[in-house]
Amino acid sequence: MSHPLLFTFLFIFLSSLNIPHTFAANSISMNHSLSGNRTIISQGGNFVLGFFQPGNKSNHNHYIGIWFKKVSQLTPVWVANREKPISDPTSSELRISDDGNLVLLNQFKKQVWSTNLTSIASNSTTAVILDSGNLVLRDDSDPSKVFWQSCDHPTDTLLPGCKFGMNKVTGERQQLTSWKSSDDPAPGIFSYGIDPRGSSQYFMVWNGTRQYWSSGYWNGHLFAAIPEMKSGSINYYEYISDATENYFTYSPVDDKIIARHVMDISGQAKDLAWMEGAQKWMLYYCQPKQQCDVYNLCGPFGSCSQGSFPFCSCVKGFSKASPSNCDLEDYSQGCARNTPLQCPHSSSDGDKDKFFMMPGMKLPINNHSVAVASSKDCELAWLKNCSCTGYSYSNGCTVWYGDLLNLQQQPDGSAGETLYLRLAASELPNSKSRKRRFVGVGVGVVVGVFLFAIAFILISGHQRRRIIATTKAMENNLVLFKYGDLQRITKNFSEKLGGGGFGSVFKGLLPDSTVIAAKKLEGLHQGEKQFRTEVSTIGKIQHVNLVRLRGFCSEGTKRLLAYDYMPNGSLDTKLFRSNSMVLDWKARYQIALGTARGLAYLHEKCRECIIHCDIKPENILLDASFVPKLADFGLAKLVGRDFSRVLTTMRGTRGYLAPEWIYGLPITSKADVYSYGMMLLEIISGRRNAEQSEEGKKAFFPVLAVNKVTEGDVLSLLDRKLNGDADLEELDRVCKVACWCIQDNEFHRPSMGQVVQILECAIEVNMPPVPRSLHVLAENSESLVFHSHLN
Ligand SMILES: *[C@@H]1O[C@H](CO)[C@@H](O)[C@H](O)[C@H]1NC(C)=O
Ligand SMILES: *[C@@H]1O[C@H](CO)[C@@H](O)[C@H](O)[C@H]1NC(C)=O
Ligand SMILES: *[C@@H]1O[C@H](CO)[C@@H](O)[C@H](O)[C@H]1NC(C)=O
Ligand SMILES: *[C@@H]1O[C@H](CO)[C@@H](O)[C@H](O)[C@H]1NC(C)=O
Ligand SMILES: *[C@@H]1O[C@H](CO)[C@@H](O)[C@H](O)[C@H]1NC(C)=O
Ligand SMILES: *[C@@H]1O[C@H](CO)[C@@H](O)[C@H](O)[C@H]1NC(C)=O
Ligand SMILES: *[C@@H]1O[C@H](CO)[C@@H](O)[C@H](O)[C@H]1NC(C)=O
Ligand SMILES: *[C@@H]1O[C@H](CO)[C@@H](O)[C@H](O)[C@H]1NC(C)=O
Repeated sequence: MSHPLLFTFLFIFLSSLNIPHTFAANSISMNHSLSGNRTIISQGGNFVLGFFQPGNKSNHNHYIGIWFKKVSQLTPVWVANREKPISDPTSSELRISDDGNLVLLNQFKKQVWSTNLTSIASNSTTAVILDSGNLVLRDDSDPSKVFWQSCDHPTDTLLPGCKFGMNKVTGERQQLTSWKSSDDPAPGIFSYGIDPRGSSQYFMVWNGTRQYWSSGYWNGHLFAAIPEMKSGSINYYEYISDATENYFTYSPVDDKIIARHVMDISGQAKDLAWMEGAQKWMLYYCQPKQQCDVYNLCGPFGSCSQGSFPFCSCVKGFSKASPSNCDLEDYSQGCARNTPLQCPHSSSDGDKDKFFMMPGMKLPINNHSVAVASSKDCELAWLKNCSCTGYSYSNGCTVWYGDLLNLQQQPDGSAGETLYLRLAASELPNSKSRKRRFVGVGVGVVVGVFLFAIAFILISGHQRRRIIATTKAMENNLVLFKYGDLQRITKNFSEKLGGGGFGSVFKGLLPDSTVIAAKKLEGLHQGEKQFRTEVSTIGKIQHVNLVRLRGFCSEGTKRLLAYDYMPNGSLDTKLFRSNSMVLDWKARYQIALGTARGLAYLHEKCRECIIHCDIKPENILLDASFVPKLADFGLAKLVGRDFSRVLTTMRGTRGYLAPEWIYGLPITSKADVYSYGMMLLEIISGRRNAEQSEEGKKAFFPVLAVNKVTEGDVLSLLDRKLNGDADLEELDRVCKVACWCIQDNEFHRPSMGQVVQILECAIEVNMPPVPRSLHVLAENSESLVFHSHLN
């Protein structure tokens, strides 16, 4: 459950605190109890047991807990009296009771917590804090006799070496439960543990019932839903299952790493490592990866948006239910209506409830389906029923009663559904003025269309009629073009915009003045039907960072695709042409991020994972505002078996190809990550990686880049044309990401989703290792022979 995004360089930053070698008790015995500020410290000085106060100490709640001795920021890993804080530690006491149990007594000598063992056959029990962070209750005369250990009763943290699983005989199960809030260790709403039915899956669960994440089954090396998990990078993992128990356990490759695996109040399980240099915990992995995938994160009528901070907000007409929790970023209480609904007390027509249209939503899950003929019927039927809080119409009417949970605002540009939310009429703009505005716009549109039509008939009436007659809209709004029309639109393919592995691209002007880019596909030997199926699939893929497919032509052997035209051309012309305008750093960062988002969408959000296979600056197009759009996605599949042939003929692409292409290994989305990394380096430097520089052949830029990054000298990598004008922190981030992306081992490369998160600064990135094969690549880049094994 950990990730290789953490490299041994981390050690350099890790703790080198001097631990005083004074004697410190590490145990509680019959004679030594714990009170006030007294603590016991493990023998090697790793962990402390004592009373602590969580949060910012504004309340007077104290707890018995275990925390890291070598971490300056108080970080409890275990809490005894989670739900029963004590107010005065000086007169409270943690001690061994007469019956041998470890107990916590409050100032009134009342027991508030106990190890609760019934049969301890020893007069000499001792509680010892071990260097692993485990508090052990054992027989003093026979230390191998362990009666109880905190490892078996974790709170929110799994420490290395502790078993995380289930005893098949007693049914006892380790479970991590989040804190209620950052200053309250009481069990929160999210928990995490192994399948109680005995399978090897781990589940994350909301409020003990609602499962929202699963690890998948253990396949002998990793959990099915965590393919990036791999032993040996930062941790070793083990999953054991025998007749009596099944459990997962992990241990760091290097015991100098201070690490923890915690069920966070955010509902995510997080892997963190302490960075002594930065004096903070660094997140290097979490599940679920998307914060919005956590069940009911934002509470009733809250809406989660992955791209914004904070993630949660209230939908229109609602405000935060408990503003006091705002600072703690706790939205679990959700949102409350600003204006009560009129239903069922609406007196006149004027103040009836209304439905407010919310497009681009991922719909809530607690729905009910009802068969109704049309959207209007749906609205009319459910406006009357006061228990209906919202509806959605597509093929049928889906309605919601009561609280709406798990609403999600989809990122701009990606397809979402439309939810109609019931609100009091006064929350919405006055319906009369809205109607008038609507009519106004309607008239405007009609007049505009009319004028345009007249103008057009005057200019090219004859031609226009023909095109309209022969082009018809298809499913997904793709236009089916006649070849002859495309010929006319592109002035017989006279204005060539570019060429590529799949064919040449020509500029064309539609009758409505829309400019398109028509791609003539070459080397396709596909049947018409299959072509149409594939094109229809590509047409459905829409995202702000992907070039939109508008239509196609399939006539005889002729296959063409029509895309939106991108006025600012492709990225290579902006980066490498000396006579071109210089892209400033901000634009470059946005291009890097936008491209990553587009790719992440292809890899992770589409129904089928789409590997682009040909990421390079030539395929990054820029629209009028320099928003990057990926071109040519889906074509690798369209071209199918012929792709290997296409690849070998694409000389320019070599520098971007991942080693797995060269070694004939299976190609996964990580091949795109590699190419993306290579391209990032070019975005940074403003020159081709493969270009021979003044310094000669040795200076294969990626080699230089990786070395400079490890030396911490990223500024020297920046395009000279920028004169050092760049955000250094961003530059450092991009350089590190690039180096992670071009790792030899695809498991060491981040996913595109992670790249996006890093570039959005949602997660930190560590120092990357030097990929070994780069040198080989550098030396052989001219003589490599490509064997592709796609078929
Ligand atoms: C506890 O203290 C008493 C005297 O104060 C001593 O006789 C006894 O041995 C001690 N017991 C342990 C377990 O240390
Ligand atoms: C511990 O508490 C005692 C008295 O309660 C106080 O004198 C002492 O300074 C405290 N020590 C620390 C390290 O806070
Ligand atoms: C501590 O938290 C309380 C409320 O949770 C807040 O009012 C106070 O400002 C905080 N103090 C500090 C020092 O952060
Ligand atoms: C110990 O047992 C008591 C009574 O059976 C119960 O209320 C309490 O929650 C238990 N404490 C722990 C830590 O299990
Ligand atoms: C426990 O101690 C009592 C006296 O303090 C002694 O009589 C008894 O035998 C001891 N039991 C064991 C199991 O050591
Ligand atoms: C959690 O579940 C319990 C019943 O198991 C229920 O009483 C409680 O209201 C639920 N909490 C929330 C926030 O829905
Ligand atoms: C509505 O609920 C049904 C099951 O009750 C589920 O299969 C379906 O996916 C839900 N639809 C939405 C949009 O959440
Ligand atoms: C609203 O719809 C639900 C589900 O169909 C139904 O049980 C309820 O009686 C309806 N309420 C009214 C007032 O019509």
